[in-house]
Amino acid sequence: MNATRNTRRDLLKLASATATNLWLPRGAWSQPRFTSNPFALGVASGMPTHEAVVLWTRLVQAGVPGDSTLGAGAITVRWEIADDENFSKIVQSGQSSAASELAHSVHVEVKGLAPDRWYFYRFMAGDAVSPVGRTRTFPAPDAPANRLRVAYASCQRWEHGYFSAWRHMRDDQPDVVLFLGDYIYEYAGASSAVRVPTGGVVLTLDDCRTRYALHRSEPELQAMHAACPWLVTWDDHEVQNDYAGLTPGNGGPAVADFAARRAAAYQAFYEHMPLRASVLTRALAGLSSGAEMRIYGQVPFGRLATLYLLDDRQYRDRQVCTRNDRFGSSLVNPERCDSWSDPQRTLLGATQEQWLDRAFAQAAGGATWNVVGQQTLFGRRDFRPGPGVTLWNDGWDGYEAARGRLITSLQRHRLANPVLLGGDVHENWVGHVKADYERPDSAALGVEFCGTSITSRASPAENFAALLAENPHFVFAENTRKGYGLVDFTPTQLTTTLRVVDDVTRRDTRVETLARFAVQAGRAVIERA
Ligand SMILES: [Fe+2]
Repeated sequence: MNATRNTRRDLLKLASATATNLWLPRGAWSQPRFTSNPFALGVASGMPTHEAVVLWTRLVQAGVPGDSTLGAGAITVRWEIADDENFSKIVQSGQSSAASELAHSVHVEVKGLAPDRWYFYRFMAGDAVSPVGRTRTFPAPDAPANRLRVAYASCQRWEHGYFSAWRHMRDDQPDVVLFLGDYIYEYAGASSAVRVPTGGVVLTLDDCRTRYALHRSEPELQAMHAACPWLVTWDDHEVQNDYAGLTPGNGGPAVADFAARRAAAYQAFYEHMPLRASVLTRALAGLSSGAEMRIYGQVPFGRLATLYLLDDRQYRDRQVCTRNDRFGSSLVNPERCDSWSDPQRTLLGATQEQWLDRAFAQAAGGATWNVVGQQTLFGRRDFRPGPGVTLWNDGWDGYEAARGRLITSLQRHRLANPVLLGGDVHENWVGHVKADYERPDSAALGVEFCGTSITSRASPAENFAALLAENPHFVFAENTRKGYGLVDFTPTQLTTTLRVVDDVTRRDTRVETLARFAVQAGRAVIERA
């Protein structure tokens, strides 16, 4: 225990130090001679505000993605952010330190930028120069804004296909990407796999690093990270299928200390994502094993929209009435499950729930659109056509009281134009957020677009049309196509475009529009567009 605490304290010091801007004279730079391109995993930016953004990279030796052949010490990395792609007008520059204990990742928080503007950035280490990334700040919170294009995506299982969707998303030029979970999968293979990941089942910190590095070695994904800032959250597969809080899920070998596995997975997520260093340092400051890593939050995009990002995995109670009382999820008849509607059960955890309720309270008179990025399908989905109900206990359906409290919060604060974006189900679902899902005539409070996956397969449904008809608060659903969604916001309307690729098993697959929907501000009504 002491050893763990000491390690954590050391890591905390390191993480704090790497977040600080260094000013070392050239002679003091720690710069090994690289035998290959240290920037082979590319660059990324994230957590944009009206005046700040996080710039990310991770140094590696090509060919050995998870490893530490770069040595045990820290490496000095320089960075520049400029108005132009040629870096003739550099607006800020500095130095950071890439520590081996944090997989030689770099998380620079650049502050004092101008609002509502695109920038270019790059890193340098030794003689090596990174690819150029493009990022942007958001409009000031009280400033008008006429348009915003959000791309939402989730679920990129390596075995199920190629990451071509990212190439098409880049052509669609979003202002920001909301990534809604399952960036990696912990699995080692799949039946009829298109390709098999190196590294087997992901259990340890090094396993996780290898898997993230494998993903980031994909040019299409790298290019999308370099194209605009991202806001990222996770779901279960960044740790283990169907895990819930500190309760393990299922799949793969069981580990003796699940909290330690989760903490390692969270650290690796931090190391590979454009997150503020405070996300990690706050987690490390907690002393219990598997300490909280807060990744939920909100950010305004001028007066046009406020973007909220939730974490419905880290703080949730375990699923109830899973078959044979096992860990993980299953389909459940709620009438045969005493604990189904237990008012104590939580999906977001009490602290996050209170934070969200306060944020909704403060949103009054604020932005036109309130966009909530979260992991999964929000609306009720009855899998059993006809009489009787069958619900899935891992999504919002399995946390009925928690969903009820969120609906109450939307109503109590009369939240303007709520738009829920989700993932997880590997299918496109489009619907109205209802005051009461059991009463089809109850008020629509907002709209929901739950995305398909970048690659991950959906389970085949025998009669998908009947499933949609059974749940009339949804106006559209499709369960075979892979891709992403685009939401274009203006002060008067949103337009959502479902973009899907032809064949996820081909790198050169094309993209097309599956469907398009419009919602007028002030009216929670989805129309085909
Ligand atoms: Fe998934």
